[in-house]
Amino acid sequence: MSSNPIGIFDSGVGGTSIWKEIHQLLPHEHTIYLSDSVNAPYGPKGKETITALSIKNTELLLKKGCKLIVVACNTATTNAINYLRQHYNVPFIGIEPAIKPAALHTKTNAVGILATKGTLSSALFSKTSGEFAQHINVIEREGKGIVELIERGKLHSETMKSLLTVYLEPMIKANIDYLVLGCTHYPYLTPILSELLPNHVRIIDSGAAVARQTQAILNENSLLNTSLIPAKNEFYTNGDPEVIRSLLGGDFDVEYLNF
Ligand code: DGL
Repeated sequence: MSSNPIGIFDSGVGGTSIWKEIHQLLPHEHTIYLSDSVNAPYGPKGKETITALSIKNTELLLKKGCKLIVVACNTATTNAINYLRQHYNVPFIGIEPAIKPAALHTKTNAVGILATKGTLSSALFSKTSGEFAQHINVIEREGKGIVELIERGKLHSETMKSLLTVYLEPMIKANIDYLVLGCTHYPYLTPILSELLPNHVRIIDSGAAVARQTQAILNENSLLNTSLIPAKNEFYTNGDPEVIRSLLGGDFDVEYLNF
């Protein structure tokens, strides 16, 4: 079982930012990545549909023999991970906005969070936010339209810059010193965000923490792959494989799959 692959899924191409962290920390682990691009964005879809799509992705990864599943999507985690954990017999790793470290370290007492509607309105997010960030000013903005642009290969576009300028304005006004990226598509925006934000604002996401958690849970379940054979990394999308290829930036095979 330990030589079986890690399964990773997202509503689209954004979870590749999490795949990169996992691959860097655990280079000998085989991985299978599913990009459900045809159904992106999940954000506006509501809990029931997001859960149904997460079930579909999970079952495909299990059919391919995955030993652990990383839900590389804040929206799917905050809406569906409890269901998945209750119904399937493999460990699940989820991702949530890094509101806790931002709330602990802010000096201006103001923190910005950019996420999807599905994440911001979820019960899990309100719980975390209520627990750690009650004493600070949290400026939440829905990143409407961002996922769609990235899915269409329009990461570096004027439209993206204009959208981000509008979303960041109230955060800059409130003097935030941390911006939390609450969607796995958003780490790809970091160079653009750094240009638009004042220098003192730190941009944080949960990618590295998810990779460390994956390592810890594999270890705990005696599932770490100890073989030194180079890892096989498979990428499947029901959208345009070229968009993932361009984000991965290397020589990776990305296959179209109708799922
Ligand atoms: N990458 C997904 C997330 O982390 C995007 C959500 C969406 O499809 O709306 O939330």
